Amino acid sequence: MPKINPALGYEAILDRVLLTEEQLQSRISELATQISRDYAGMDLLLICILRGGVVFLSDLMRKLTIPHHIDFMAVSSYGVGARTNSGKPRIVLDLNTDIRGRYVLLVEDIVDSGITLDHVLRLLQTREPASLDVCVLLNKADRRVVHIPTRYVGFSIPNEFVFGYGLDIDELYRNLPFVGVVKQEYQ
Ligand code: IMP
Ligand code: MG
Repeated sequence: MPKINPALGYEAILDRVLLTEEQLQSRISELATQISRDYAGMDLLLICILRGGVVFLSDLMRKLTIPHHIDFMAVSSYGVGARTNSGKPRIVLDLNTDIRGRYVLLVEDIVDSGITLDHVLRLLQTREPASLDVCVLLNKADRRVVHIPTRYVGFSIPNEFVFGYGLDIDELYRNLPFVGVVKQEYQ
């Protein structure tokens, strides 16, 4: 697959917009309403998986109407230039928070094979939170190799490589306000 030339704008690699800014924001508002209802009166801790989940987290948390804490983890799954999971996720940044007895909601950009989230969920479960659930913006169900219990899902999407709204292609274009499908030659 050709390497992305960072000097080019995203238009050079965009096949089509899959989810517009309006679609994303309106679905995130719905998710926030549901989460605010489900966790009312609980001490909610949102854990964002860097770096892809950060744009979703920042919009989601501003739409929540309940008090909550946030913390971050970073997991590396893909080798440079790869478009699929290398199969060996590595925790490169761990939490600052003790999650024992906490109501934890993991906030992630996309679940693809499920290998990354499975690894994180297993690790966090050993720390005995009161609850541990997943809120994922995008679900590529066709690609799943490990079952992931996703309590909140923004959108189910086809098996194509996407970028924008936190998701990168070779670490670029995370800032776009929409989700786009990359052209076939870059898949
Ligand atoms: P999984 O371990 O295969 O489920 O992959 C999870 C991670 O791979 C996500 O957190 C993303 O960072 C990345 N990923 C999976 N699919 C895509 C995609 O289509 N575009 C950009 N990143 C992706
Ligand atoms: Mg990610």
